[in-house]
This record gives sequence, C-alpha cells and structure tokens, in this order.
Amino acid sequence: MKTIIYIGVILFLSCSKSTTSKMRSVPKDPLIENLISNMTLDEKLGQMTLYTTDWESTGPTIRGGYENDIKSGRCGALFNSHTVDFTTRLQKIAVEESRLKIPLLFGYDVIHGYKTMFPIPLGEAASWDLEAIEKSAYIMSKEAAASGLHWTYAPMVDITREPRWGRVMEGAGEDTYLGSRIAEARVKGIQGTGFDKADRLVACVKHFAAYGAPIGGRDYNSVEISERVFREVYLPPYKAAVDAGALTVMTSFNDYNGIPASGNKYLLTDILRNEWGFNGFVVSDYTSINEMVNHGVVKDETDAGILAITAGMDMDMQGAIFQDKIKTGLNDGRININQIDNSVRSILRIKKLLGLFENPFKFSDKTREANSILTKEHLEASRDVARKSIVLLKNNGILPIKKSVKKVLIAGPLADDKNNLIGAWSGSGEARHCVSLLEGIKQNLKATDIRIEYIKGCEIEGSDKSNFESVLAKVKDADMVILAIGENKDMSGEAAARSMIRIPGVQEELLKEIRSSGKPIVTIVMNGRPLVLNDVHNGSDAVLEAWWLGSQAGNAIADVLFGDYNPSAKLPISFPRHEGQIPIFYNYKSTGRPFNPDSKWNTKYLDMPNAPLYNFGYGLSYTSFDYSAPTADKTSFKNEDSVNISVNVKNTGNYDGEEVIQLYIRDVVSSVTRPVKELKAFRKVMIKKGENKVIKFELSKKDFSFYNDKMEWVTEPGEFHILVGGSSDTANIIKIKLTK
Ligand code: NOJ
Repeated sequence: MKTIIYIGVILFLSCSKSTTSKMRSVPKDPLIENLISNMTLDEKLGQMTLYTTDWESTGPTIRGGYENDIKSGRCGALFNSHTVDFTTRLQKIAVEESRLKIPLLFGYDVIHGYKTMFPIPLGEAASWDLEAIEKSAYIMSKEAAASGLHWTYAPMVDITREPRWGRVMEGAGEDTYLGSRIAEARVKGIQGTGFDKADRLVACVKHFAAYGAPIGGRDYNSVEISERVFREVYLPPYKAAVDAGALTVMTSFNDYNGIPASGNKYLLTDILRNEWGFNGFVVSDYTSINEMVNHGVVKDETDAGILAITAGMDMDMQGAIFQDKIKTGLNDGRININQIDNSVRSILRIKKLLGLFENPFKFSDKTREANSILTKEHLEASRDVARKSIVLLKNNGILPIKKSVKKVLIAGPLADDKNNLIGAWSGSGEARHCVSLLEGIKQNLKATDIRIEYIKGCEIEGSDKSNFESVLAKVKDADMVILAIGENKDMSGEAAARSMIRIPGVQEELLKEIRSSGKPIVTIVMNGRPLVLNDVHNGSDAVLEAWWLGSQAGNAIADVLFGDYNPSAKLPISFPRHEGQIPIFYNYKSTGRPFNPDSKWNTKYLDMPNAPLYNFGYGLSYTSFDYSAPTADKTSFKNEDSVNISVNVKNTGNYDGEEVIQLYIRDVVSSVTRPVKELKAFRKVMIKKGENKVIKFELSKKDFSFYNDKMEWVTEPGEFHILVGGSSDTANIIKIKLTK
C-alpha cells in the first residue's frame, strides 16, 4: 500500500451533516445597508424576486402584472426583457415610481450570441481555442449590454456523458478539464474586469449542480451519481467558473443525493459558499423552488420556499414563492430576517457593481445599441470561431475541393437553411442575418468557373422521398455532391431529449441514393449533439461535423470546403456507434476485466465494439502531424516539484495547420480505481508545413491528485503514464515516477 501524501483535507462529509453555516462574506456597503434598514419586508422579498416579462418565455408564465410589482417594489429583476426602449420603459417605473427607487436588473439567456450568433457552445468547444471562445463571449456580452441587458444566464458548464440529453449542445462536452478551462474563458469574456464601460454582463454559472447527468438523458430527470464521480467529474467546471469571478450561480432542476438542488444546503452553502468562498447570489431555475413539491421533499410551496432559503437560495425565478409564501416561515421562526437581509445584500451588491445606483440607464444607450450590433468586426469573429469549430471526421482526399472541379451539386434540407443554423438557444438572433451554406459556397466560388446547382431533396423530418428521383437526375450531371443533413434546432436544447440519436427522417436514405450514383460525396452534418453516424461515415467520401455555427455558418463551412481554412477542431465529446453504448466517454476505468477483443470474459458487448465511432479529442486536418515520443526532464520526481514534458510535433503534410496537442495521464496503481486516462493539459498551435515545433507542458502535483477512499484530496507515489498526441486514443507514452 502506498504512503498517502495529504495535500489538504476536505471536510465535506462532516459539512454535509452540519447544521450551522459560516456567515456570508458579502462586503457591507453604506448605501446598501442604509437601503436595507429602510426596506419593508415586502420590498426585501421583492429584490429576491425575478419574473419574466411577457416578451418571451421558456416555461409557463405563472404570474403577470409585473409592471405593478415593479411600482410597489415587489419585483427587483426581470428576464427576457431587452432592447434599450423596453428596458428604459421598465427602469423608469422602478426609479421614478417605486418608493425606494432601486434599479431593476435585466437578465436574458444570451447563450451563444445576442444578435451576432456564434457556434452553439458544444461546437465552439470543439475549437479548443480559449482565446476565440473568450472573445465570442465578450462580443455577445457587448451586444447584449448595448441593448439594455445586465445579466446573462451563461455559461452553462454542465459536464455530460449523455448525447440523448438535449442540453448537451449548451455545454463544453464530456471532459472536466476542457470544460473547466472553457468555463473560465467564458466567464472572463462575459464579465471582463468590470462594468465601467457598460460593455460586459454579469455571468450566471449554471446549472448547479450535475444537471448534465440525468438518468436516461431525459431533461429534468433525477441524478444518481456517487460523491466521487460528482467531485471528480461534474463539480470542477462550476468551481473554475466561480474562481474566475462569476458573480451569480443558477441552481439545477435535478436532485443531488436525494435533495433537489434548489433546496440543497450541501450544494448552496457548504460547497459553494463555505468551501469555495462564493459571495455573489444564487438564483433558482425557472420555478425550480415550486417544483420541490413535485420532487416530494416538501408538502407545499411555503415549505419549498423555506427549504430554499435555508439552503442558501437568494432569488426566486418566476415561482412567486419568495414574494407570496415565505412570510409564514419568518413568523414561526423557521427562517429569520438575517437570512433575508443576506440575500438582499448580495443582490443589491451586484446592482451596485454594475453601477446602476449611479446611473440606472447606464446600459440603455440608443447610440451604442445602434452601433454595437452585428458589426463587421463581430461578424468576422463569428466566422473565425465558426471555422475553428468544424471537425473533419473523414476525408479520403476529396477535401479540400479542388478548384478544377467543374460542377458541384448541393443538396439536403440544411443546404439552403438559415433558421436552424443559428441554433437552439439563439435568443434574439435572427435567421435573416445568417449566411446559409448555399450562400457561403456561392460567395466563395464567385471568382471561379465552378458551376453549382442546388436541390433540397427532402425535409429534415418526415418520410417524403418524392424528390429523390430529381436529385438523382441532377447528380448525373455533377462531378461531386455536397450534402447538408442533420437535426433541426428544436431537436436540441431544453426539453429536447431524443432516445434515438440518428439523423432524422429520410436524410440518410437520400445519402444512400446519391451514393448509388458513384459520384463523390462530402456530407456536412449540422446538429446539436453527438449523433450515430456510421452510415454517414461509410456512405461519404468526406464528413464534416458543422454543428450549428451561427451567423457566419455558410461562409465558415465554405472556407473549409475549398481550403481557405484548414480544419483544426477536435471533438469535445464521444460520438457512439449505437445508442446502446450510452453512456460512453473516454475516461472510463480499467475494471478487473478490461476489454479484450480476443476473449469472451471481459467488459464488452457481444454485438459491437466498446469504442465509439469517433472518440473524444478526435479530428482530422488537411495536413498530417507526426509526434515524437514524449520526454520528461525527470523520470522520477518529488511531490513538491513539477515535471516538464516535451514533445516534437512535425507538420509532415502539404498544408500549414493548427494542431491541438493533448496530454493525458494515467495513474497506474492507486488506492482507489482511477480512469484509464484523463486530460490534464492541451495546447493549440499553428505549425507550418515542414515545420517542427517543440511543445512543452508543465505538470505539478495537482495534476496527479485525486480523492482517496476517505475523500481526501491526495497524491500517492508510484508510476504514471503520460500520453501526448492529437486525440484521446493516442498511445504515445512516457512513464514517470512520483516519489515521496
Ligand atoms: C430554464 C433553463 O433551464 C435555464 O437554463 C434558463 O436560464 C431559464 N429557463 C431562463 O430562461
């Protein structure tokens, strides 16, 4: 048994049982204290109340009349309210007609763009380009802030191993390390270093916690995971976002360890505030406090409100429970006024940080609104990150398309589409501002003699094959086919789980028909989740995973098709061969009987391999990269040291290209079972053709640490394998030892 080296003791097991919690460390401010001392209970509860306007809603609107609530001080924040005109009208009511004139906070789901749309977050994660991701988060905030908004419900940092779950499109995929780095980048992009210039929003990390692990992939479903998996896999990205300065956190709809998140003191107080020192405010998800009655942990909404307050909830989204139901709890002593004051203080502090007390209309400037949206610079940034997000899944050499081709047939229901290309959760993004694939290709080929023809062929859904014959007639006349197929945008996002994650309708049959012609086919898949793509893979000469790429989708795809951009993206999530393999992820454990294709008695299916069709970290380029074996500056190192790993990467192909160099570790023997590999570092680097680059990584003890059987965060001496390559299935390895 190895000697255990303690790095720190996490007292969460005892914390979870404790009944007391530390005082919140929210700094006191004279203006806010003065306000609190003058507020009636109704006004305090009003600050803790968030309603949707009737502009738009993502769930049932259970209470109207918000204008009267603003006047009477019974509502301090509104969501789905944007544009300078609309927010100015509402803010005027608050600061001119309410007793205490406290400004309103305006929130909205600005998830991957306000007007300039960027790729859906899962797609953008495929870029592995933290700078580009931060920039897109900044631009979406800038546009939204210019349109009267203060607060976005992003980033969504839920790790998931569930491609059936519709909200997979909103996160960064399956990996904790990649997800944590992206969470930080997004928070930095959204919030920047402050709100002086009124060009940043307050971020809201969601959905705390483990929302990405619903049983069976069905949205809103229960979560059953061990404390170990919760701590190791799901929790770190929320912490990374909080450490990056996120000022607000949204709870999730699910339960964790038997307690719904919105009433879970272990999550909201013990972990979030006491362990992590979070001092912003926590908002519920849409009516998630009320839903604790359905969860069956409280008998009525009053008890639900009291459970939420006791757990550490500050703001009630749309449920009207804080406003209407919790006074009973104050009267009978189940909650106290200090708890209410703490929440009000935390909320008013954010309004103060935004500068709203000095100028409630700071974010409502008509000129800025007119000049900041859909600018050339924003559209260029969107195109840049969109092409960086396209994953080349297969290429038999047909791509990039040579300009010597004479005639290209463009087909498929997503070829001339704009509405789906802006993706689910597109907020106020408009399809009319999106470049379709057809438009992008036309624009790209403007100066060439290549002729193009277009036919839709079929719809995304349904069984109508009546146009197949016309497609085949046109195929005859073309040198090659570009086929755009996939999901429609409502097939992903909230409340959009699918049990079968294939390309819907007759689209794959259309591919088959075209294949029968013998003409070369490039298939472009547009979708919000990993799909089962075996037939697409086998039936195409090249396959591009193009997600939903946003405003510049068509231009970005055309850039890749015709070689103006060499694809560099890598999958942030595994693509299974079959739904029966789900959950499927690269960082599984060895088990006592690891997979062995030559024997029966081990962890496997009788009817299919264990491996996904495309694994995490996979993605091709038009060039090729050769990796040297990694080297370490020491093969044995002490726990306090760091170890430097180097690898030479040579571009051996005919194109300049960017490569994502990924570093994984495996702890060979440890006191608890560990994953066969875990991503610990990556770098995205441009390597010119023929060039050789030395890439260096520094690993320290945190990279080798894990929770032992007592859930203490430790490292243990012994052998580690370090694997460095261009995908999670790399076997390029060096072995090192950690000594005491
Ligand atoms: C419910 C969703 O779960 C959440 O992500 C979103 O921010 C709210 N509705 C508000 O639209």
